[in-house]
Amino acid sequence: DPSAVLRSGLMGLSRNTKVRDVVEKAPVSKDVVKRFVAGTSTEDAVRVSRELDVEGKLATIDFLGEDTLDRAQAIHTRDAYLDLLAELADACLTDGGRVEVSVKLSALGQALPKDGRKLSLEHARSICEAAAIAGTTVTLDMEDHTTTDATLETLAELRKDFPDTGAVLQAYLRRTEGDCRDLAYEGSRVRLCKGAYAEPASVAFADKGEIDMNYVKCMRVLMEGEGYPMIASHDPRIVEIAGSLATKNLRAPDSFEYQLLYGIRPNEQQRLADAGNQVRVYVPYGDEWYGYLVRRMAERPSNTAFFLRALSSR
Ligand code: FDA
Repeated sequence: DPSAVLRSGLMGLSRNTKVRDVVEKAPVSKDVVKRFVAGTSTEDAVRVSRELDVEGKLATIDFLGEDTLDRAQAIHTRDAYLDLLAELADACLTDGGRVEVSVKLSALGQALPKDGRKLSLEHARSICEAAAIAGTTVTLDMEDHTTTDATLETLAELRKDFPDTGAVLQAYLRRTEGDCRDLAYEGSRVRLCKGAYAEPASVAFADKGEIDMNYVKCMRVLMEGEGYPMIASHDPRIVEIAGSLATKNLRAPDSFEYQLLYGIRPNEQQRLADAGNQVRVYVPYGDEWYGYLVRRMAERPSNTAFFLRALSSR
């Protein structure tokens, strides 16, 4: 299976520090990274947030990192978010939720043995507190299917004190239509994406047509529901159907938003915003970009095509 060979090769690359050093220093990869990642520092994240704000777009910022089994690293990630939120608030970018943050629980220690879930909840709670002080919100990213229940439980805990905490649901999972129904209540912020991890057929659709069909079903539930749908896709057909569903359900432009990744279809991002829609750009920053890009490409062949396509398109 050629895709399995490619996958294991890329997985190996993602762990090979010599290769990593070479790739990080190569001038071409700097350009590639600049296209998808704001930079390595808090200042870079604030600068890109300001640029997007000036262009009439919202942002959600992700401090890169995931799957940590190191307590100190989990604390470092929490502190990076606290620092980021303070800097964004100082720059007057957070009020009304214009710039919010996206958080991976695995980066906050969810997978640590013994008390990982408790620890990641505590860290997420601190980040939610800082976001609330800054006048903005937090959205929990969704990772592989073995963490879905734990992440939704953590979400429910956080929502007791911070009801505007958002969640991500992945349309490739068979369970997701049901999760959408559960989360389509008033005030509930749900980001619907297709899903980026390698998942077994027992839990996920593999066929693109099936994933897209399930995406539309899930989107219909969210758009017809009482919550706040966040349509995270670069797929022109999905974007078009989202617009029709919003019209059909008499949704005002401020009752849902489109979300796209930084560097992917930037002209489309601007077109949607200029047409009066709310558009939020997901902006990753930090040192961990190499693992993020290479791992995503290794997990699903379609992710590789996804990043490559962005390099040749506007
Ligand atoms: P897909 O990749 O299926 O592409 C469909 C069509 O879109 C293409 O045929 C093409 O027409 C167009 N297109 C796509 N990319 C293009 C490009 N670069 N240039 C031009 N056209 C392009 N995943 C996850 O598992 N957990 C998470 O928490 C998140 N969070 C998240 C937040 C946000 C804001 C976004 C946008 C995405 C995520 N994802 C995610 C990633 C998501 O699951 C998915 O992997 C990617 O968004 C790719 O799927 P698409 O829906 O964009 O379309």
